[in-house]
Amino acid sequence: MLDNKKILLVISGGIAAYKTLELIRLLKKDNADVTCILTRAGEEFVTPLSVASLSGNKVYTDLFSLTDETEMGHINLSRQNDLIIVAPASADIMAKMTHGMANDLASTTLLASNKSIMVAPAMNPEMWDNPATQNNVKMLRERGIVFCGPEKGDMACGETGEGRMSEAQTIHQAVHDFFFERPLKGKKVLITSGPTYEPLDPVRFIGNRSSGKQGHAIAKSLLKAGAHVTMISGPTNMPDISGVDIQRIETAHEMLDTTLDALPADIVICAAAVSDWALTSPSAQKMKKKSDDDTPEIKLKQNPDILKTISQMTDNRPALVIGFAAETNDLEENAAAKRARKNCDWLLANQVGKDENGTQRGFGTDENEIYFVTQQEQTRWNNMSKDSVAQRLTDHIIRHFNNK
Ligand code: PMT
Repeated sequence: MLDNKKILLVISGGIAAYKTLELIRLLKKDNADVTCILTRAGEEFVTPLSVASLSGNKVYTDLFSLTDETEMGHINLSRQNDLIIVAPASADIMAKMTHGMANDLASTTLLASNKSIMVAPAMNPEMWDNPATQNNVKMLRERGIVFCGPEKGDMACGETGEGRMSEAQTIHQAVHDFFFERPLKGKKVLITSGPTYEPLDPVRFIGNRSSGKQGHAIAKSLLKAGAHVTMISGPTNMPDISGVDIQRIETAHEMLDTTLDALPADIVICAAAVSDWALTSPSAQKMKKKSDDDTPEIKLKQNPDILKTISQMTDNRPALVIGFAAETNDLEENAAAKRARKNCDWLLANQVGKDENGTQRGFGTDENEIYFVTQQEQTRWNNMSKDSVAQRLTDHIIRHFNNK
């Protein structure tokens, strides 16, 4: 979301100006506050009325309008926004920007600006390739102007080549990338989360108290950092996260198969509370009490260990495999031993079960206290929200990949 972000959109002349109407709609949908300057040439392609209706703000069209200069002059316009987007950026307006010309509201505002500027060029391919334009592009890039496009394709003029303005969705994504650092962009992450249910019969199961809150928080945090996130989740009440591919499963076997199918990945995080055992042969029908003292014996078999399977992969092992450990006692010793036994790179151990006051810890709670173990270090993270645990883990992951 672009909550509280103020964006000034300069619409210059060009057939691609029609795409800015969709861009305004997308930015507004994201809660951005959009103000527009429409150049005289821009007015030939879109009307001030349509731009004002979509942006919900006054449209500025003329530097020499006395009212506008009293209400909000070009200096204010250039200063009161977090980002200025020029779309379409014609060859003319880019030349003005390069050479510091200020002969209309748009160019004056851009010259007076102390804010970041993004341009989405749109012009005939020959104009784009012309050394004059390319020199301007080079100078603007050197000054830190952010470019979105242009792209290759068919042009309105009938020619084909580089010069098409990027689609509104692409510019919208570029705005997100500008505001939110996406240090994990391009990294693929798999997260297991929630409990598994191992059936006794069609209505009963062996399960546990995992709510999926910790896995969910990690998925959100990594998504925000730009990673491509797939979450393989056991049965929980947690809602879907827009942008995260959530695959819902029930048993440990299903979780293993779905996780292996989703590989390769750069990072795997096993936050799920996977049942170590399943019934050797669950009943196909609901088990019935045959008499008052009938107590059926159930026979268990071991489930596959998903974390260990992935950690021990020899081909295409993810660069970073992270496990959790749910411990009721001897947390520190158990955590170090578990990390070594499972062969994962990092392990986050948390105390689970009821404390001396009868309060549940780890499972289902909003807070968590982590003992972080790698081969080199062991650190205690004080009690914090599960969101903060997720953020701290994300920071560690970012540092890990930055130091590579
Ligand atoms: O979901 P919440 O209510 O928010 O609770 C969060 C949590 C307590 C479930 C979470 O923080 C946590 O500790 N998850 C791991 C729970 C667990 O199963 O721990 P374990 O010590 O039994 O397993 C160690 C590791 O091996 C875990 O990464 C687990 O996912 C993995 N494992 C275990 C068994 C198995 N068959 N396959 C596995 O992959």
